[in-house]
Amino acid sequence: MNSHKNPLPYTLVAHDKHDERHHGAVTIPIYQNTLFSFAKSDEPGHAFKYSRMGNPTVQELEKRLAALEYGEKAQCFASGMAAISAAILSTVRTGDHIICVDQVYFGTREFFEFFLTRYGVEVTYVDGTSIQQISEAIRDNTTLIYLESPTSYYFQLQDLTACVQAAKTRHIKTIIDNTWASPCYQNPLRLGIDLVVHSLTKYVGGHSDVLGGAVVGSAELLDKLSRVDHQLLGGVMTPHTASLLLRGMRTLPLRMERLSKSALTMAEYFSKIPCIHKVNFPGLPAHPQHKLAVSQMSGWGSLMSIEVKGTLEQAKAWVDQLQYFRIGLSFGGYESLVLVVGLVANAVKDHPVTLIRFNIGLEDPVDLMEDISTIHTFFSLKQKPAVSG
Ligand SMILES: Cc1ncc(COP(=O)(O)O)c(C=O)c1O
Repeated sequence: MNSHKNPLPYTLVAHDKHDERHHGAVTIPIYQNTLFSFAKSDEPGHAFKYSRMGNPTVQELEKRLAALEYGEKAQCFASGMAAISAAILSTVRTGDHIICVDQVYFGTREFFEFFLTRYGVEVTYVDGTSIQQISEAIRDNTTLIYLESPTSYYFQLQDLTACVQAAKTRHIKTIIDNTWASPCYQNPLRLGIDLVVHSLTKYVGGHSDVLGGAVVGSAELLDKLSRVDHQLLGGVMTPHTASLLLRGMRTLPLRMERLSKSALTMAEYFSKIPCIHKVNFPGLPAHPQHKLAVSQMSGWGSLMSIEVKGTLEQAKAWVDQLQYFRIGLSFGGYESLVLVVGLVANAVKDHPVTLIRFNIGLEDPVDLMEDISTIHTFFSLKQKPAVSG
């Protein structure tokens, strides 16, 4: 039984009411307008005036994102980074202090280091797995705790309920990058987080052909952010992009279900290979924070990493000959991807050289396992790991 106020995700993304304003068109039309004229000079009349301030196609996407995340409102942006930077800017002033998890997405970290420091905002990085470290880092001028759970290289979690408790008693805002879990598998607003940010470029787009971002939260916080940090910085989403994202969203729960299952299958497979000494994936019962993961997420993203006993050169030689994993950044599309992290400058600090990140796509996991099983010739394993269908 669905006891929620919202329809469940599959219904939410598949069902639109008949709408005479769109002549009953079943897909949301693309309002390819920069402006919306008024009937009379003194009668602005309708909700839309100029597309930087709002566009009907983009608004349809925002309504669905807000509902999926159990938020009152959402604001879309041209990219995940545009959403992240606007959300952060909406919570800080010169002289403020931010606490941020040390494994945060590198673009966010660079935004803090190259941009916010210019305006006299200080950032303390903490081990997000330790609520004690987070609490101890709080100062009188702390206005924001910035979270990303799980992180996207080592897949470490933060205890969201504990973070909210620590923040709320001191009137500190909380923002979380929820891209990895998607709105299908983690809803931080329901745990008391103030703002959720997404790179829609990943799962919501789902086809590796569109950039986008969103901030979701209460009407109060979103109204303020939309007027100032969205409209004035101007990193808005185009109606065409919104249409592609609405299309991607139709199959989001379906793709997530498949990706979550395949990712777990692949993580289990990696775990059985002797030269892989660590698999970083919170869906595995052996993950040190698996219990916490199950308590705050209901499924898994498709991104994981492995730590291989071997050199960077061995990792490169193996990865470069894989058939079904394309080499690249990003995740959340239909295609499987691989990245030898140590070969990508600035991607993550202090990583072991043998860290390899995988995005599991929609291909058949049996083919993916077969591909992975070539590992034995590159890392001097006695035998090829068995593949089970
Ligand atoms: C976890 C995470 N958050 C945010 C972003 C930024 O998103 P975008 O590339 O859409 O700006 C990325 C991009 O890779 C990411 O991996």
